[in-house]
Amino acid sequence: MNRGKFYITTPIYYPSDNLHIGHAYTTVAADAMARFKKMTGFETRFLTGADEHGQKIERAAKARGETPQEFVDVIVAGIKNLWDKLEVDYDDFIRTTEERHKSVVSAVFQKLYDQGDIYKASYEGWYCTPCEAFWVESRLEDGSCPDCGRPAELLQEESYFFKMSKYAQRLLKHIEEHPEFIQPTSRRNEMVSFINSGLEDLCVTRTTFNWGIPVPFDAKHSIYVWVDALTNYISALGYGTADDSLFKKYWPADVHLMGKDIVRFHSIIWPMLLMALELELPKHVVGHGWILLESGKMSKSKGNVVDPSILVDKYGLDAIRYYLLREMTFGADGSYSEDALVERINKDLANDLGNLVSRSIAMAEKYFQGQLRAPGIPEGTDRGLIELAEQTPAAVEEFMDRVDPASALSAIWRLVGRANKYVDETAPWALAKDPAQNERLSTVMYNLAETLRFITIMTAPFMPLLPARVWPQLGIEAQPELCTWEALTWGRLPAGTVVKRGPALFPRIDINEKK
Ligand code: MSP
Repeated sequence: MNRGKFYITTPIYYPSDNLHIGHAYTTVAADAMARFKKMTGFETRFLTGADEHGQKIERAAKARGETPQEFVDVIVAGIKNLWDKLEVDYDDFIRTTEERHKSVVSAVFQKLYDQGDIYKASYEGWYCTPCEAFWVESRLEDGSCPDCGRPAELLQEESYFFKMSKYAQRLLKHIEEHPEFIQPTSRRNEMVSFINSGLEDLCVTRTTFNWGIPVPFDAKHSIYVWVDALTNYISALGYGTADDSLFKKYWPADVHLMGKDIVRFHSIIWPMLLMALELELPKHVVGHGWILLESGKMSKSKGNVVDPSILVDKYGLDAIRYYLLREMTFGADGSYSEDALVERINKDLANDLGNLVSRSIAMAEKYFQGQLRAPGIPEGTDRGLIELAEQTPAAVEEFMDRVDPASALSAIWRLVGRANKYVDETAPWALAKDPAQNERLSTVMYNLAETLRFITIMTAPFMPLLPARVWPQLGIEAQPELCTWEALTWGRLPAGTVVKRGPALFPRIDINEKK
């Protein structure tokens, strides 16, 4: 089965500090998307990485008495560990300090200069170093950056500029003709009004710091970090190099996934750079909401940063991934609290899914020594369950195509709920008392096991460790052909399969013990 290609990216993170649960959310969501696309027959490429240049990094390294490279090397190693711990299965990790990236950025800059899209002029403007962004004075709020609220600094310098104004109309037309380009719609509307309010040419070099890629023909200028960073999406594919086979295969990106704060860079600057390079634009720029705490935004100065690695140690990988992907409504901000996390684990994972698995298998063991028998003719209540099981994969696909893992999970959990209700409706313990109901009991046991197979396959992109724990319980660990997305046709589970109770998948958590 080959349904085409799928290229998804996360932002490349600033290695200025350790990453927190907000960054983990973006990356885990992209990973779930990538795993899902792979499972459903797409040739998938999943890129993440680190954005290592710029004044912010230079200053942070200096404060620690390290060279910027030494400083980022340590943090990047930590980032990779975190992704391993979260089972983030990326295909490539690009670092902007790598030669393969720097050479592409230089060549892109040179090309745009040669063709007149980049020119030199004198510039004065307000700069926000934490965001690495210039602002016109009218956009500042009380002299501070409108994005992060920190004070902006007035900079004056000879700089190079990219002719953004030249591409504004073309970009607006593209956004109009491709309503799905920027998602969700609220972000799209924000971007349209941003462009309509007038775009100045973009200052694309700095002389205030050295930790960057030098302008190839004027080495005292460094290339603006956002031009450097955005280019990662094509440099990682070998764009413009002798081996550009990945680029030819995977560009344009299908999804650039990110938080809402940086949609502006991806849906205005990046498409314009691509237009200037005469390259296709990404298909979807998707901005998700922020994870907020009761105390507001996470920040080191507030001391309220939530470390995903500690949560994995405490609650388990699948539980954390489930919580992140389920709790954040697509596009909207969400709030994090450990109580809500524990409640989700106890309700959805321990009570609903965990119990369904353990009681279904325990009953099959008790009544049939674990051996499933062929189901009889389905009755009304069976049909309700089977129909929902058969519809759910398509519903999951539809939600994932909209980059909406929360709704995909909730569709799967509707099936979990339906199966629990099925147990109550069919009351196998009562059927077991009556030898005349033996065939009926076989049908119920089979249908439960088959539903568990469906649920487990569908949860795999979100909770990657779960399948390997369920398959032995369902007795099909040696039959991988029954565990693929393609195997989601009802009735593939063979009669005669022997199920076997294993350890509880998600033991209930007592919040007071954990704190
Ligand atoms: N380096 C740039 C991205 C360049 S991409 C060409 C950058 N890095 S970052 O490390 O500051 O943040 C990257 C992303 O982390 C944000 O866009 C967002 O996706 C995510 N988040 C950071 N804090 C977040 C939350 N509290 N909640 C959700 N996501 C957040 O920007």
